Amino acid sequence: MGELQPLGIVVQGSLSEGLEVRLHGSVSVEELRVGKFLVVQGRRSRFFCLLTDVILGTASPRIMANPPDPSDTFFTEVLAGTGTYGTVHLTPMLMFVPDNPLDLLTEAPARKGKRKKVEEPSTAYSLLPVKTVPQHFSQVFDSSERDFRIVFGWEDDPHRRNFVIGRPIDMEVPVCLDLDRLVERSNGIFGKSGTGKSFLARLLLSGIIRKRAAVNLIFDMHSEYGWEAATEGKQFHTVKGLRQLFPSQVQIYTLDPDSTKRRGVRDAQELYISYDQIDVEDLMLIREELNLSEASLENAIILRNEFGKNWITHLLGMNNGEIQEFCEQKMGNKSSIMALQRKLTRLEDLKYLQATCPENYIERILRAIAAEQHIVIEFGSQSNLLSYMLATNIITRRIHHAYVRQAEKFMQTKNVGDRRPN
Ligand SMILES: Nc1ncnc2c1ncn2[C@@H]1O[C@H](COP(=O)(O)OP(=O)(O)OP(=O)(O)O)[C@@H](O)[C@H]1O
Ligand SMILES: [Mg+2]
Repeated sequence: MGELQPLGIVVQGSLSEGLEVRLHGSVSVEELRVGKFLVVQGRRSRFFCLLTDVILGTASPRIMANPPDPSDTFFTEVLAGTGTYGTVHLTPMLMFVPDNPLDLLTEAPARKGKRKKVEEPSTAYSLLPVKTVPQHFSQVFDSSERDFRIVFGWEDDPHRRNFVIGRPIDMEVPVCLDLDRLVERSNGIFGKSGTGKSFLARLLLSGIIRKRAAVNLIFDMHSEYGWEAATEGKQFHTVKGLRQLFPSQVQIYTLDPDSTKRRGVRDAQELYISYDQIDVEDLMLIREELNLSEASLENAIILRNEFGKNWITHLLGMNNGEIQEFCEQKMGNKSSIMALQRKLTRLEDLKYLQATCPENYIERILRAIAAEQHIVIEFGSQSNLLSYMLATNIITRRIHHAYVRQAEKFMQTKNVGDRRPN
């Protein structure tokens, strides 16, 4: 299985802290970059590891006190591997355990420098989470195409919906994600600014749409995914948005139609939310943004019980005398209701909130999602936290209700037609 020359050996480590690998003298630390995948061949299992740190070591403090002259290459070479050495730190990510324990020992190594065409891995492996470490002095190799295929699969695997998201830094092997598994879990893309998070998110969404793995509802705070987005760099390039790539499967809704039109987006649909669609529960979720007290929320419940779903419109229209009268009759607290009224006037600044709407846009979005249309919601200038939290909460809470209802129906009928889309 060792296609390549070993790079080093494991000298110490632990499951929680990772492995320390001493590099052989012929291997320069400059060839190993953080983020590279290496494998450690243990006695029973093969460990697929991520390189997380590169360290320079010296065997004796005297070398540090008296470093050789940089021009003395002979002395530097003599020290390399004995007096001076490189160490890398690996974090084991997965273990491959062969189903037949003899497989690891019997497979013939390929000649170095000869690239083997990689076929489907012939040996059956179980991929396990790492629960142990390789033993002392296990050898470390560059990961091969075959290792990548065992871990990430291959694109034309007939049993999986695999999608290629890119290649490792220094290899020409496609890295695939199993989209069905991906959409079952909560996922996040993290990284420093400008490292490609939005690009990767767009790529993943395109894969999910193309392979029909799930239906996407995208809250696009910075208007990056629906229509084209500019790339960074000296020359101005744009990349296509999802609506341009999949016109018949993606719909754009906008909370700020003027901004969307100014960007040249065609056929975006407007989205308005009316006051009567805001529940007290929605306000609880944006309580901090509106600075609402517990007492104000309790009084909001009293108001809702009295006026029904139009309670916000009613409250905003009440004068002090009416509030006083209301409190006397319904046991409300006047100062809390007045504070609530004052704070809810902030909602009037949100362009997409209207006293009444001719249509229930949220229902429209729910119907589109049920028909497996992907929805991108753009915020335009309405991307402050209050606006974002309110719109996302109102919409997702409704969708959640609809899904729970549908899931309950499916549990009752067991009819595949009643099953919700992912
Ligand atoms: N896969 C890629 N192929 C080509 N160019 C890319 C790729 N990923 C990122 N880039 C380049 O890097 C730039 C920054 O990427 P991106 O906007 O996705 O970063 P980000 O992590 O989302 O940044 P921010 O934190 O600022 O939102 C892009 O504009 C593009 O020029
Ligand atoms: Mg970004």
